[in-house]
This record gives sequence, structure tokens and C-alpha cells, in this order.
Amino acid sequence: MKILPWAGDAVFPALCEALLAWRKSAPDTRDLPWRDEPTPYHVWISEIMLQQTRAAVVRGYYLRFLDALPSVRDLADVDDDALMKLWQGLGYYSRARNLKRAAEIIVREHEGQLPNDFDALLTLPGIGRYTASAIASFAYGQPRPAVDGNFLRVAARVTANPIDIAKDASKRALEAALAPSYSSGRDAGLLNEAFMDLGATICLPNGAPLCHTCPAARLCLAHDRGTEQDYPIKTALKPRRKEKRTVLLLSCGEHIAIRKRPAKGLLAALWEYPNVDGKLSRRAVCAHLTAEGFNVRDIVPLPPALHIFSHIEWELTGWAVTVADTNEPPLMAAEEIESAQPPLLWVRREELAERYSIPAAFGYFTPQ
Ligand code: ADE
Repeated sequence: MKILPWAGDAVFPALCEALLAWRKSAPDTRDLPWRDEPTPYHVWISEIMLQQTRAAVVRGYYLRFLDALPSVRDLADVDDDALMKLWQGLGYYSRARNLKRAAEIIVREHEGQLPNDFDALLTLPGIGRYTASAIASFAYGQPRPAVDGNFLRVAARVTANPIDIAKDASKRALEAALAPSYSSGRDAGLLNEAFMDLGATICLPNGAPLCHTCPAARLCLAHDRGTEQDYPIKTALKPRRKEKRTVLLLSCGEHIAIRKRPAKGLLAALWEYPNVDGKLSRRAVCAHLTAEGFNVRDIVPLPPALHIFSHIEWELTGWAVTVADTNEPPLMAAEEIESAQPPLLWVRREELAERYSIPAAFGYFTPQ
């Protein structure tokens, strides 16, 4: 579907001028360390972290990450468990795996330098139009609008445009309509920062925007009509699938059982506590573990938890189970091994915290 230019788009040059003047007029009070030295590597790491996580949370992760992995080559060489440990708590772990895969490609094919060509950036794992534009504008001064939720909200409100911003075609249309108002050099990045800052601090997504302090209020058609909160229009996402799982915190002396999740799918290749489908009672847990060959000593309930992923919701039941010994896996036929759960790894409690990253979905049950 082709989206035609919206009549209100004529305001974009004036909007960009007003936002750029606003961004330049006030000191940057947001204390965002990735703005201090926007090298391509710094911008890339920060933008990937910022994709699903608030800036206030990202700040500490970003600084620790760069301390541990100061260059693309360090990232390409990092051991997977160490990488996951640096990412632990940020969620959406495929972002970290894509960073490493992309770093390997950058070392192999681009001599360790992020390409400055927009289309070349787009070929790297985990880099879509938004991230490529952020790198191109912040680090290389190219006139590329970085189209994120803030950008879309501001653009749709200022022009009172009823397009559905959840659609890719709408994003592309607004990107194309605003690109001619970008100039090269430092202003390209500053203008993108202005959209981000306006969206984060004034043209707010939830609740009433703070139009009385907005540098673009006099240009904003939605404000003129008092309809700011009718924009942007966004089709509802599919409701999340609800699942019940029971997590078993198995301990044997000083050891806790963990295992690696499958290499593909949700939380791929991350460590987890053993867990099973459904909401199991104490009796069912005992029966399950006995059938697995464990000698169960004690079963204590843990506080329940709800974990929300983008597309799934887990209602979690937890049991802390003390077992008398770590069971040896029974001998299995080859076809059984294919479909079996990965083996348990028994780790000492201190080692668990230091070396293994347990994603937040299971972290509710981590022993204190
Ligand atoms: N959100 C995404 N990128 C950002 C940036 N560079 N500064 C502030 N917030 C952001």
C-alpha cells in the first residue's frame, strides 16, 4: 500500500528548524553517557540497549559493557556466558547475540570499523532502519531521520495525521517526508536527539503532553485542535499468549541445579532453573522428581510470579526442593536422547551469581 503525502507535511521544515533551535538552546540535562563521545561503536551499543529499555536503566549497563568490551574486536571475541552476564537483566537476549554476530562480521569484513554506508549497516544482524539511521546520523553526521516511537508520535501529532504508525509503510512515509529537512553534519544527530528528547520529556506517550513547554506547539495541528491525545493511531497488538509454568529450585547441599535452554526459541541458549509446563502441586512435583530418579527430601513453596514477554505471559509457580543426591541420568536409547531435556548442571551458590546469567523470567526464584 502506498501512503500519499499528508497535506500537513508542509510544516516539517519549520518543525525541524524549531526542534533544532530548541535542542541547541538548552544544555543537555539528560546525562546520557552515549552522547559524550558518539563513536559508531558507542552509538551502536547504546541504541541496541535502548531499543526495549529505559535510558535510566541502560546507563549503568552501557558503562559496564564498554568497560568490559571497549571495542568491536573485544565484542567479537567475548565468551557467550560472559556476554550474557553483561546483559543479565536487560532482557531480549537475542539483542546481545546479534551484537556479537555483527561484531564478528565487522571484524571479518570491515576491518573492525562499523560501515558508514547505510545499506551496509542494514545487512548486519540486529540492525534495522532505526539503528542504522541512529549510527549514520550520530556517528557519521548523515541526514537520516531515526524513526522510533517518539519520532512517529511527534510527527503524527504536529500534522494531525491519522495514519497507523504500527504499519511499516507509515514509518517509511514519515521518514521520507522528514528526510529533506535534515542537513549533514552535527545537526543531523542533534535533530534526532531533539525528536527523542521532545518525545521523552514533553510530547509524552501516556497522559497529557506538556504542550505549554513545547517548542513546536505553535506549529502543531493536533494542539491547535485540542486533539493531541488522539494521535498517534496505532493498531492494537495481538493479545499475549498466557502460559503456566512450574519452576523447580533444586538444591543438594551447597549446589543448585541449572540447565541450558535450547539453542533456538524463547530465551535461547540461556541458563534456567529446571521447569515444567503447567501449575504443579507439591504432590505433582514430588511425583515428577521421583520419576526422574531424585530422592526428594523437602519441598517448600516459593512466592508466585508473573513474567511478561512481548508476546507471552508466564504465570510462574515455584518450589524450592531439597534432594538427597544429584541424580545420574538414566541410560537412554538414541532417539530418547534426541528429545530429552538438556542435562542438569549443579553449581555452587556463589558460582551461580558470579558466572551464570539467569534471565529475569527465572530470576524471581534465585536464592538470596
Ligand atoms: N532512545 C534511543 N536512543 C536514544 C538516545 N540516543 N538518546 C536518548 N534516548 C534514546
